[in-house]
Amino acid sequence: MNIIKMIFILSIFSNYFSIKGDLPTEIKKCPAGDEVCISTLITQILRTYPKGVPSIGLDAVDVIHFTDVVVAEADSSTPVQLNLKFNTLTVRGFENTTILHAVGFDKDLEQPFELSGWIPLLQLNGEYEASGRVLLLPVQGTGEAELQLKDCKFKCKVRAAEDQRNGGKLYAKITKVKCVVDVKGLHVNFQNLFNDQALSDSMNQLININWQDVWHTMGKGINKAVDQVSYSLLSRVALKLPYDDFYLN
Ligand SMILES: *[C@@H]1O[C@H](CO)[C@@H](O)[C@H](O)[C@H]1NC(C)=O
Repeated sequence: MNIIKMIFILSIFSNYFSIKGDLPTEIKKCPAGDEVCISTLITQILRTYPKGVPSIGLDAVDVIHFTDVVVAEADSSTPVQLNLKFNTLTVRGFENTTILHAVGFDKDLEQPFELSGWIPLLQLNGEYEASGRVLLLPVQGTGEAELQLKDCKFKCKVRAAEDQRNGGKLYAKITKVKCVVDVKGLHVNFQNLFNDQALSDSMNQLININWQDVWHTMGKGINKAVDQVSYSLLSRVALKLPYDDFYLN
């Protein structure tokens, strides 16, 4: 056997072994279909491993970085008159998620999964660009922004397909994630609106007083961002952790 062939075969083996993941041994697995156990299990994984679990492909959840997040886009066919984009965005707080319901976690992958729960506080920081109108008033600015989303309730519907791989293990392939997020409070601080500190302060104050109306403008964009991050987190885990190995039985 020549050396090239040997390296090729070795690399296939090492890939095979590094791809297949398993839950950390300290995590107690649940029987398939046990909603209470699975809700607790997912909550526990997020709390115990805020920095992620590389062996199952789970990325850090305590600090998640994004670029180019469009939160609102002015559209003549809707009442939205605001363009709001984050060139960079860091989201903190997913590690404190409590999963309340985990439906559909059984051996049948074709049924949709449903995950619902709440997060006490999501802290968003980034570089924003805004133009258009909010609360009927013109806004214009670029700079640093901080947003706090309080008491976030979410419900995500996840669809997956079977991915039967060599070696007989069944993996899940995430095909769709759709989330609905609602908040009990929103507090913003957009710095440098209109290049003017005093105007910026009063605009932020106005937004914070009328946060519910502002949430209606931004909620759709935030939902979409949540869909994307959930999809990417779940897909990476599904790629690495065999679906069968998630359960006890
Ligand atoms: C998450 O919960 C811990 C413990 O209650 C708290 O110290 C921390 O500030 C929370 N993180 C966020 C981003 O709210």
